[in-house]
Amino acid sequence: MYVCLCEGVTDKEIEKAVDQGARTMRDLRRNLCVGSQCGKCTCHARDVLHEALQAR
Ligand code: FES
Repeated sequence: MYVCLCEGVTDKEIEKAVDQGARTMRDLRRNLCVGSQCGKCTCHARDVLHEALQAR
């Protein structure tokens, strides 16, 4: 499912980024550009990030 429509980033891509070492929203923004346009996805992206971190 798409999390960030502006950058076309899915929840699976965020989970993959976590597998590759992403730990913060700053990491996601740097790696995937999540939230770098309109910013509406930031809360959802943070939830997906935290769920992925807890699952690791
Ligand atoms: Fe992510 Fe707009 S939906 S920056």
